[in-house]
This record gives sequence, structure tokens and C-alpha cells, in this order.
Amino acid sequence: MRLAEASDDLQATALGGSAAYDFATDAGIDAILSSVADDKPGLLVLAAAMTNVDRCEREADRAMRANAEAVSRIAEACSESEVGLIFYSSDYVHDGSGPKSEEAAPAPLNVYGRSKAAAELAIREAGGEYLIVRINVPLARPEDGENFYSFVARNLLADKPVKIVTDQWGNPLDTGRIARWSLEAWQKGERGILHLGGGSYLTRFDAARMIATHLGKDPALVISISTEQLNQIARRPRRGGLLIARQSELFGTAPDLPTILRSL
Ligand SMILES: NC(=O)c1ccc[n+]([C@@H]2O[C@H](COP(=O)([O-])OP(=O)(O)OC[C@H]3O[C@@H](n4cnc5c(N)ncnc54)[C@H](OP(=O)(O)O)[C@@H]3O)[C@@H](O)[C@H]2O)c1
Repeated sequence: MRLAEASDDLQATALGGSAAYDFATDAGIDAILSSVADDKPGLLVLAAAMTNVDRCEREADRAMRANAEAVSRIAEACSESEVGLIFYSSDYVHDGSGPKSEEAAPAPLNVYGRSKAAAELAIREAGGEYLIVRINVPLARPEDGENFYSFVARNLLADKPVKIVTDQWGNPLDTGRIARWSLEAWQKGERGILHLGGGSYLTRFDAARMIATHLGKDPALVISISTEQLNQIARRPRRGGLLIARQSELFGTAPDLPTILRSL
């Protein structure tokens, strides 16, 4: 959204409470398909999704409709109209048995992961030009919505303790780089699947303690908890994250890789 605001070539839209482009409904999908067919943009960037992992588990039909079936129809429309597609996917297509490369076969543990894996497959089968950008733990400004960083920062800045898991791993990256690099990768002619992630592979607990230090707050406010203790409905991948060799070839290898501190 921020990139689009600063660009003459990009136009951004969010649901923002309006039903116009709600792709959990037939009318919303039809509106998106008409827009693709009529406006024929050079590229459609699809970042919207039903992202609450436990809600996806509770409302599996809705999650599959919004995250997979709608994406399938949008991908077919893009293919027919020769509109390029950038789609955001997740390390949750994998089972958390260690960070994977772009080539590894998906093995999702929960409905959200299954819906994203199904969307990826549908995009490949639609036969158009596409770039699937897999990300994990994107770090965004608090004013840009709820995310790991904003949850931790909001509480720590109010001197409230946060309980954060010690057994979920990832390599977070800031949404600024994710957005810029996605478009740059497309412009460089990258197609297929691309992983974007940071240079620090660490637990959510360690990431939260680094956020505390970064904000000048006492890291002791971050309290360790295990995934099991959280009692969540959906299973979570433990050793998640993404291997980023392809990203490194495109945007620089260590020491240029953004560590979590650089992302913060
Ligand atoms: N956050 C993560 O940890 C993470 C990790 C890996 C991958 N991803 C992927 O990255 C992408 C962006 O994630 P995010 O964290 O930025 O998600 P987010 O903050 O939850 O934002 C999701 C966006 O999707 C829109 N949306 C939700 N349901 C919709 C519907 N039925 N029809 C149309 N629009 C709808 C929302 O619009 P409103 O705000 O107007 O409701 C919102 O703008 C998603 O594809 C997600 O699967 C995220």
C-alpha cells in the first residue's frame, strides 16, 4: 500500500469494511474478475488473505473458499487476460521440520497451510505468468495492522509482559523489503516460487527479546512459553522459516542480508 501511494504505476485497494472485493463471496470475486478483464493491468499483486490461523481451522470451508478457490479463479482470469500475478504465500505450507527451499514439496499441518498450498497449486495450473512469494513472520509497523512486531511492541511500550513461544523458529523480514523485493524480482524476470526472509534464524522468544532491546525496554518483560501451553486449535510448524539462496542471488548474500536488527 505504501509503495503504491508513492508510485504512479501502482494502484492499491484493501477490503476496508467494503464488500466490493470480498473474495469470500461470489459477488466479490466477480468484481475482481471484471476488474482484471476490463482494466487489464500489467500485474496483479494479491496480498489479501484470511490470515488468522486458528479462525481458518474453525471455519475451514470459508478459509478454503477465500484462500484457495478465490485465488484459483483470480489466477485463471489473470492467465486468460495475460495479466501477471504476484501471490503471497507462507512457510506454513511446510510442516516445520526445518526451513525448506523453493523446490521442497508442501506438507502443511493446518487448514491455513493447506489453503495456501492449494492456492499455489491452482496458480501453477492456471498457466499464466506468476511469482509466488513465500514469506514468514513479516515485521510491519503497528499502524499497518496486527502482526508479531506490533503485538510485542504495543505491550512492551505499555510495560506489559508478553508470553512468547520458545519453540517456533523463523527468519523474519520487514514488510518494506518484502514489498520492494517482490516487485524488483518481478521486474528482473523472476517467475515461479521465491522465498523472502531475513538473515537471522531465531525463535519468536529471541525475536521478541531483540524487539525489547530495540525499543529500550527490559527484555525480562518477554516471558517464555511453549506452543503446547498456548493450547491453540491449529497445529503450528516449529522449525519453520525459509531457505533464501535464491533471494541471496538476487539481492545480496551475507553480510548484506538483513538481520532482524536491520529489519527492526
Ligand atoms: N502475517 C504473517 O505472519 C504471514 C506469514 C506468511 C505469509 N503471509 C501471507 O502474506 C499475505 C499478507 O499477510 P498479512 O499478514 O499482511 O495479512 P493481514 O494483515 O491479515 O491482511 C490481510 C488483508 O486481506 C484482506 N482480506 C481479508 N479477507 C478478505 C476477503 N475475504 N476479501 C478481500 N480481502 C480480504 C484484509 O482486508 P481488510 O484489512 O480491509 O479487512 C487485509 O487487507 C497473506 O497472503 C498471508 O497469507 C503472512
